Amino acid sequence: MDNLIGVFDSGYGGLTILRQIRQLLPQYDYLYLGDNARAPYGSHSYDIIYRYTLQAVEELFRRGCRLVILACNTASAKALRTIQQNDLPALGEYRRVLGVIRPTVEAIGPLTKTRHVGLLATAGTVNSGSYAMELHKLSPDIELTSQACPMWVPLVENYEFDSPGADYFVRKRIEGILRLDPQIDTLILGCTHYPLLMNKIIKYTPPGVRIVPQGEYVAASLRDYLKRHPEMEEALSRRGTCHYLTTESAEKFNQSAALFMHENVKAEVVDLERK
Ligand code: DGL
Repeated sequence: MDNLIGVFDSGYGGLTILRQIRQLLPQYDYLYLGDNARAPYGSHSYDIIYRYTLQAVEELFRRGCRLVILACNTASAKALRTIQQNDLPALGEYRRVLGVIRPTVEAIGPLTKTRHVGLLATAGTVNSGSYAMELHKLSPDIELTSQACPMWVPLVENYEFDSPGADYFVRKRIEGILRLDPQIDTLILGCTHYPLLMNKIIKYTPPGVRIVPQGEYVAASLRDYLKRHPEMEEALSRRGTCHYLTTESAEKFNQSAALFMHENVKAEVVDLERK
């Protein structure tokens, strides 16, 4: 039966989105997939990210998802459009794949007073130009300055998010972006891993600058989407369950995910490369 909501990320980052979605919409059944074995995605080419993301989406559909959220900005920037336009028709007319960039961008307009906004994200997301493109459709007056933070995802994936070593990399990128544009009053955390570095990010961000993680906005946008699409909403099962898949060691995933989700996690290992 195709009635679950799938949530996909290259690794642990999507858990920050899943947590907020489940807080807002606890009634549905969720299946999370972290491609931890192949994370980080951030510096891979378009072709690789598209191939990995498509494999993940196909797996989630095979396992009963009707709707998949790409809880990964890099995948949303580089693979979402192609999957929606080229692959979805063959994967099932009634199935849908949604991303995280549009809901984030929709929230930004009312948050900034100076109209100078900073984007912290992976190199893949920054180089795709997706944020600037989407933001300027809605708020052409906003000036966007972007900064790639290549070390931030590995810090989270390797469980170093709270270590003294993380301070160096977090500080460097925040100071860097504020030097590029000192008028920035709003910083988008345009990578779903980054909220897991929140303690450090707060530490190095000046008090007048608002930090914007995505989870709350993605969750609200999903709620609105389901209101606008009753055929999808009515088809979803509602037992309030959540299961996890990882492409790496289940034991490692269980430990980290339990910490991030504040609950017991028992993941199943999945091989996305099998024929
Ligand atoms: N959480 C992913 C994102 O939002 C991280 C991508 C990566 O693995 O580098 O972009």
